[in-house]
Amino acid sequence: MSDSDSTRPVSRRTFISKTAGASLVLGLAGRTHAATAAPTPSAAPISPAAPAWPLVNATDETALIEVLRSGRWGRTAGGKRVATFEADFARRMKARHCIATSSGTTALLTALGALNIGPGDEVIMPAYTFVATFNSITASFALPVFADTEAATFQVDPKSVAAALTPATRLFLPVHIGGSPADLDTLATLARSRSLPLIEDACQAPLAEWRGQPVGTQGLGGCFSFQASKNLTAGEGGAILTNDDTFADLCYNYHTPGGGRPAPSFGRGANYRLTEFQAALLVSQMARLESQAQTRDANAAHLSALLRQIPGITPAALTPGSTRSAWHLYMFRYEAKAFSGLLRAKFIQALAKQGVAVSSGYTRLNTSAHVLALAENPHYQRIYGKSALKTWIERNACPVNDRLVEEALWLPQTKLLTDRAEMERIASVIADVQKRSGDLARA
Ligand SMILES: Cc1ncc(COP(=O)(O)O)c(C=O)c1O
Repeated sequence: MSDSDSTRPVSRRTFISKTAGASLVLGLAGRTHAATAAPTPSAAPISPAAPAWPLVNATDETALIEVLRSGRWGRTAGGKRVATFEADFARRMKARHCIATSSGTTALLTALGALNIGPGDEVIMPAYTFVATFNSITASFALPVFADTEAATFQVDPKSVAAALTPATRLFLPVHIGGSPADLDTLATLARSRSLPLIEDACQAPLAEWRGQPVGTQGLGGCFSFQASKNLTAGEGGAILTNDDTFADLCYNYHTPGGGRPAPSFGRGANYRLTEFQAALLVSQMARLESQAQTRDANAAHLSALLRQIPGITPAALTPGSTRSAWHLYMFRYEAKAFSGLLRAKFIQALAKQGVAVSSGYTRLNTSAHVLALAENPHYQRIYGKSALKTWIERNACPVNDRLVEEALWLPQTKLLTDRAEMERIASVIADVQKRSGDLARA
């Protein structure tokens, strides 16, 4: 809006969308949600013009205003909400300790820093993940080594992890991609057999379960993200869970300068603290996390049953041992040959025309320009040597993942917060596109 625009009358709708932030602070909510609200109880989109996520309610607003007025905006200023969130999240996830951090990335940086991962160390990570997993390793000048994916589950293949082991391996960093658990039994057993720690990148997986136990503590610890798209969000934020007292103290000391807990020091640390504003939002949202998760569970099960009947559409299977997915992403594979050879990009367009937005998801991380640049990085060349880095590029080959990224499709978690009728609509739109696929492929 230009300066001259500011004197013009604005419609109520424009006003609400432009002033949602201000009215929140002033306590002048006055919002109309009905048109776009998902049927999730007790929370709604911020304003009619806002994206479908996050959802907010009056408790969120009050929680933020209380922090604002308290003047205690951080844990070092005497705020208590970060500690409250840590206790709540640890209790809900059945973990002994929780250390809240400013993001999922900083949760990972803290965990790796607390383990004193550094130059010369290799960390095994999946090829099918967000780049932040990789970045959390390179921040310590350690070497990320990619493990291939199981096409059926989209999760890291434990056989590929075993094959990637070398005497330099210092850590396993599996990811629960889409919020569905990776094979924690096999990975934890393998890690234990080599006396290596396992840290779960559970950034997408709050409330996911492995054999009835929430993820995050099957190895040494787990890292979570509360970034804007996540199922539990404060815009940014993160947490580490662990049952290990010493590791908890190491992480605590790493994430806050002068943490002062009784743990050995490696002479490293940072400030990765969560703010009281973020914690207030997280505490408030924890109250509806379970009911939202149940809605996603039910809708995902219904959608999978419907999609399995469509030739060429294969929902990602849960790894045997998974007893709950967080359904951060609903992932499935698309085989063009069952759709008259219709290219995936055209399939996505055809769905979008009927109001079903799907994403093609991750591209090949292990051969991306960002990853390959590591072999040219002068620090890395000094630490590992040029020829070892050349071999490293070859070691990172992940043929199953290469194919998966060409076939994968995702629906966002927000879709799973709608209802059974919407799941039926999605399936019927896909079936309809299949019927018309010959024409669409020729167009
Ligand atoms: C698998 C995975 N790891 C790490 C991260 C990093 O979390 P954040 O964005 O909170 O730093 C994300 C978040 O997007 C993620 O999806």
